[in-house]
Amino acid sequence: MFFEPFKIKVVEPIPVTTREYREQKLKEAHYNLFLLRSEDITIDLLTDSGTGAMSSKQWSAVMDSDEAYAGSRSYYKFVDVVRTITGFKHIIPTHQGRAAERILFSILGGKGKKIPSNTHFDTTRANIEYTGAEAYDFPTAIAFQTELVADFKGNMDIDKLEDFLKSNPRENIPLVMITATNNSGGGQPVSMENIRKTSELARSHGIPFFIDCCRFAENAYFIKKREEGYEDKTILEIAREMFSYADGCIMSAKKDGLSNTGGFIATNLDDLAEKAKVLLIVTEGFITYGGLARRDLESLAVGLMEALDEKYLEYRVNQVKFLGDELLKRDIPILLPTGGHAVYIDAKRFLPSVPPEQFPGQSIACEIYLEGGVRAVEIGSLMFGKRGQNNEIIANPFELVRLAIPRRVYTNNHLEYVADVTRNVYERREHLKGMRIVYEAPYLRHFTAHLEYV
Ligand code: F0G
Repeated sequence: MFFEPFKIKVVEPIPVTTREYREQKLKEAHYNLFLLRSEDITIDLLTDSGTGAMSSKQWSAVMDSDEAYAGSRSYYKFVDVVRTITGFKHIIPTHQGRAAERILFSILGGKGKKIPSNTHFDTTRANIEYTGAEAYDFPTAIAFQTELVADFKGNMDIDKLEDFLKSNPRENIPLVMITATNNSGGGQPVSMENIRKTSELARSHGIPFFIDCCRFAENAYFIKKREEGYEDKTILEIAREMFSYADGCIMSAKKDGLSNTGGFIATNLDDLAEKAKVLLIVTEGFITYGGLARRDLESLAVGLMEALDEKYLEYRVNQVKFLGDELLKRDIPILLPTGGHAVYIDAKRFLPSVPPEQFPGQSIACEIYLEGGVRAVEIGSLMFGKRGQNNEIIANPFELVRLAIPRRVYTNNHLEYVADVTRNVYERREHLKGMRIVYEAPYLRHFTAHLEYV
């Protein structure tokens, strides 16, 4: 038995619309769910990023914040908490994760540089490629066997990483990264052993190791539940050990910071920190706020600690599992096991008649919206499929539809409704059509692309 370890103090009505209305709105949004207005969405599972509910303690901290431009006491509270969790020397706030990415890769990226990871998230990859560097993914071989249940499908493929490090000059690889949990790989956790081995390997080549740690608390919870030797450790102890193997981290604190915005770079590398502070001041803001209101730093200082509460994490991970189980009961193919923040529908098995070049995941996501006003996001060839020499779409290894669950926002009744809506779409799956892109931007096309049915 698990239940929400909180009660509800404030409620916000959600819109209920008709299918006819949604058909009109989706057409106006060019069949891109990012282009819908949220007032036209009943249950919004587009992302778990910045969409969580803050606690009464966080709101109190917001009121108590100090909006000084320089040297704000809210900044010092934030730094204390981030240092308690990560142990890093330099803590540099940014307005969100990708700002940390842009600063990090502006310094370490550039033409000829190669940056390996278990799987880079889309903005991480884009920020690497934007500098002219190349992003490489080495997920474990079992990552995309969607039906296989295993404990740590987010792991780095250590052998592939080793080959890569051996076959490239050290000066071309400015850092090795791990994303925990592995968002683009199904929200699957990375084991402590894998983090440690990746770190040892990187350091044996003299290369710094960084963690993209947006969902570090959820990752730490899985380590506690699944990895031998961690069952009696606190989540904070496990998190500290994870970070102890790294030279730094970047975080979008909109996830396990339990706040609506924020991020940071934290590192022990003095030279990198100095360069990062210069870029921060040029484009984000002064070093004691980094593009955030100080009230955001306050809510983060409280939220980061709340995310380490084991009762909260038990509820969190089990709520994700609840949605997964409800979908499985309705025969919907999903990526197994469910991860930390989202359930991923396997679009290849859901809609085998639509080939990857026609974005089966997007077709399913659109139909789920039309059926019940539920917004999900495609993670497949629309998000990641590159263009070939003849402008053809090169299929991504997986086609997924992510139902991301905002933290502390929806009840299990909402999620049962989502499962029913998805079942209705599944029952009509042979009528679903493929899609084509009619407009796309040069980077991160899924955010703004226009599509139509083929
Ligand atoms: N890294 C990972 C693993 C992420 O999941 C995200 C964001 C970022 C970096 C970038 O952070 O949005 O604060 O700039 N993920 C969100 C998502 C957007 O929906 O998964 P950001």
